[in-house]
Amino acid sequence: MCRTIHTVVFALVAAASISPVHVLEFCQSTDRDCHSHDRTTSDSVKSRWNMNASNLIQDLEQFRVSCKNLLEAFPVDEVDGNFVRTVKNCVFSKSLPTPLKGPLRLAAVSKDVIEGILDVDMAVTQSEEFLHYASGGRLLPGSVPLAHRYGGHQFGYWAGQLGDGRAHSLGQYTNRKGEVWEMQLKGSGKTPYSRSGDGRAVIRSSVREFLCSEAMHVLGVPTSRAASLIVSDEPVIRDQFYNGNVKTERGAVVLRLARSWFRIGSLEILSESGEIDLLRKLLNFVIDEHFSSIESDDPDKYLVFYSTVVNETAHMIAQWMSVGFAHGVCNTDNFSLLSITIDYGPFGFMEAYNPDFVPNTSDDEGRYSIGAQANVGLFNLEKLLTALSPVLSKKQRKEAKIILKGYANIYQMRFHQLFKAKLGLLGDEEEDGYLIAFLLKMMEDTQSDFTTTFRQLSEVSVEQLHNNNFTQMWALEDLSSHKLFSDWLNMYLLRLRGQENDDDSDRQHRMKNVNPRYVLRNWMAESAIRKAEMNDFSEVELLHHILSSPFVTQETAEEAGYAARPPLWAERLKVSCSS
Ligand SMILES: *[C@@H]1O[C@H](CO)[C@@H](O)[C@H](O)[C@H]1NC(C)=O
Ligand SMILES: *[C@@H]1O[C@H](CO)[C@@H](O)[C@H](O)[C@H]1NC(C)=O
Ligand SMILES: *[C@@H]1O[C@H](CO)[C@@H](O)[C@H](O)[C@H]1NC(C)=O
Ligand SMILES: *[C@@H]1O[C@H](CO)[C@@H](O)[C@H](O)[C@H]1NC(C)=O
Ligand SMILES: *[C@@H]1O[C@H](CO)[C@@H](O)[C@H](O)[C@H]1NC(C)=O
Repeated sequence: MCRTIHTVVFALVAAASISPVHVLEFCQSTDRDCHSHDRTTSDSVKSRWNMNASNLIQDLEQFRVSCKNLLEAFPVDEVDGNFVRTVKNCVFSKSLPTPLKGPLRLAAVSKDVIEGILDVDMAVTQSEEFLHYASGGRLLPGSVPLAHRYGGHQFGYWAGQLGDGRAHSLGQYTNRKGEVWEMQLKGSGKTPYSRSGDGRAVIRSSVREFLCSEAMHVLGVPTSRAASLIVSDEPVIRDQFYNGNVKTERGAVVLRLARSWFRIGSLEILSESGEIDLLRKLLNFVIDEHFSSIESDDPDKYLVFYSTVVNETAHMIAQWMSVGFAHGVCNTDNFSLLSITIDYGPFGFMEAYNPDFVPNTSDDEGRYSIGAQANVGLFNLEKLLTALSPVLSKKQRKEAKIILKGYANIYQMRFHQLFKAKLGLLGDEEEDGYLIAFLLKMMEDTQSDFTTTFRQLSEVSVEQLHNNNFTQMWALEDLSSHKLFSDWLNMYLLRLRGQENDDDSDRQHRMKNVNPRYVLRNWMAESAIRKAEMNDFSEVELLHHILSSPFVTQETAEEAGYAARPPLWAERLKVSCSS
């Protein structure tokens, strides 16, 4: 039994057998701290802000974004206009957003982003101007809207030129903390990269992106952020399940932010089309702006960059797994060079534990099932290495391959660490991996709810565990129906008892801080979307509010049944695919 259980967890990375060469060792050998993305606030930035925390921007005319960095660093498409074309020898095309047809409504707004990142007073979001600025109808001072040219491997195959087909970068904003954020509109109309698309996003997919990116941030997963969600009356035609059932929906725009929106596909297209000078330029730019610990004159800098991305991608995917998140479309164009979660499409949070969980119902092969994500990460990093190859020496290419071999190990170490914390385990014991794998196997057999099983293990007392008293604990009731449950429980209790200087309330406290009580389950989003489509945004707001404190039990959430067994109708739901 021991062996079969181990394979369950290890199946998460097929490459597990690869010999362990650590990125860590590589970092030490170059004698440099190669993982910090943090930029320290420069004095010049600080002094530009002569204000304190209560002094937020009151008027968007005073809000300045800058495209200078991007425009100076890269050549821009010489052709103008938002018609579809093949673009060469540039990284961006200038592209104006197409305003949405009104009336416009503010469906959701994130105070954390508006005030905490953009330094703007929340009151501003209630103004008519804000609706236009945040949906592409009016340009923020300083903005030169750009659509980014990138390529990518989709579902395993090179897909050629893709690019921002319905997103516009508005420019970079340097906030009072000295952080640089790139602002983007999504759903803001056609660009040269729209292919056959209409450049729009519908309410349903926009609500999901808004809610999920903010929720992921609070869960501690690196992610893009969402500032606001504006809905319109503009008709947008979609075949939601690709089954010929065409429906008229409405257009919406999310104002979203990331430190950078560059993806693996950003480099791939340059490499594939032999634009090697530009490839080098883009790499240098990304390294200078976002990998401050890498020296620009280091002859190994692309290698150190690669090593950092390998490490952080492994960490990001382990974090996805620790909250049961399946991205749904892990193509190289949807994988950030900064290893943050981007491009929320047909994602899902796993409910009943199942490594084959696939959020995109059209993904029949299960290519992007939750259990496949670690391997897909490896595939994508391989593609990144191919893209970098033209700027690496033969020796560096060899080293890069060794770095990639360390990926599986980094992933497993992180996975192990995160799940140990989910079980409240302190220190290291040899059987910890077994304890985790055993639990997951029982969860799989009993189809126990992923989120709630871990949450209830955090809330239950050791005494209740001893007594098998799972009153009102529906996920643990499911789990305890497993014939080996008492074997596992004895092991677990023994392990907990061995923890010195740990009492039960400390354990519960630790576990409650890493095991959320609420995640954005598909049925919860669906219910909020149905109302939003009728211009009732109360449930979007409620979810946004609740998911901003997912580790704290909240009365309104309990009343709404968000921690209860999912309603029966939820089982019949399919994830909306076309977005
Ligand atoms: C790998 O990435 C994680 C997460 O960002 C970071 O905490 C860690 O220090 C990194 N390790 C190395 C060796 O770069
Ligand atoms: C911040 O600025 C406001 C208005 O300018 C002022 O009333 C307040 O005292 C200042 N607070 C601090 C901590 O400096
Ligand atoms: C992610 O990838 C798919 C397929 O490569 C692409 O069509 C889409 O625009 C990207 N984003 C989302 C949200 O799916
Ligand atoms: C879902 O999977 C199918 C089949 O692989 C794919 O064609 C489709 O583009 C995916 N949906 C999205 C939104 O990427
Ligand atoms: C089970 O646990 C609950 C909560 O601690 C407690 O109120 C109840 O009395 C317990 N039941 C039994 C049979 O011990």
